[in-house]
Amino acid sequence: MIYLNGKFLPMEQATVPVLDRGFIFGDGVYEVIPVYSRKPFRLGEHLSRLQHSLDGIRLQNPHTEEQWAGLIERIIELNEGDDQYLYLHITRGVAKRDHAFPREVTPTVFIMSNPLPAPPAKLLVSGVSAITARDNRWGRCDIKAISLLPNILLRQLAVDAQAMETILLRDGLLTEGAASNIFIVKDDLLLTPPKDHRILPGITYDVVLELAETHGVPHATREISELELRTAREIMLTSSTKEILPITQLDGQPIGNGTPGPVFQQLDRLYQAYKL
Ligand code: PDD
Repeated sequence: MIYLNGKFLPMEQATVPVLDRGFIFGDGVYEVIPVYSRKPFRLGEHLSRLQHSLDGIRLQNPHTEEQWAGLIERIIELNEGDDQYLYLHITRGVAKRDHAFPREVTPTVFIMSNPLPAPPAKLLVSGVSAITARDNRWGRCDIKAISLLPNILLRQLAVDAQAMETILLRDGLLTEGAASNIFIVKDDLLLTPPKDHRILPGITYDVVLELAETHGVPHATREISELELRTAREIMLTSSTKEILPITQLDGQPIGNGTPGPVFQQLDRLYQAYKL
């Protein structure tokens, strides 16, 4: 069951008019929220980021936090599986095609749930591979926009190369993955780029930094050069659907000794305990 504009209904019955600005222009924002043991993970943080995205595209939030929490609770109830991931999607609604905002806006609001399988144990043991590419996205990567064409094209490069993720470089600096944030370990220090307009402010990113802080893992947020990325002792990606994954190969070269490193092992153990 999904939620669309005030109604809960089966996915097959859910339709959106072709003039929806999400369909015509990609004019909307979204959120992805993991649900563990039927409870939304870090709901407050996800709803704050949603507000940030809506502010970024000048679209009024159609619901209060309490209303969102109620809709989310109901969607979780209506769907099977203790672990799910929720997809929230808000567009600037239906209007005659014109780039400028319509005068009257009735946003389209859509929520669906999907199963959230745990990352395959094999990947945690062997690690995954990644490739690099130039970050050719726009200048507001902090907005979780539904217009994802650059991310899609960049991610497909990884699929074509039989890799898990494309790691992006802008002006010689690491930004993030096509659909994830990236951490490296250099000289026992966990490093990740600072949150600014060049990256999506990841919720999993925040959790990893908090766990590092609480458990005494030396860490810092600062710019990371391409050379530092390529010579890192460990690389890992984070996202709500993939949690933390160790990257053991980059552009065909092993990272560290080519197996998941101790900092990944520790953070993953902490994350698994924390999320429940
Ligand atoms: N993507 N950066 C980008 C570009 C992303 O698309 C995502 C997540 C992240 C990680 O953010 P978080 O930890 O809050 O999931 C970083 C989601 C999962 C998606 O688009 O499906």
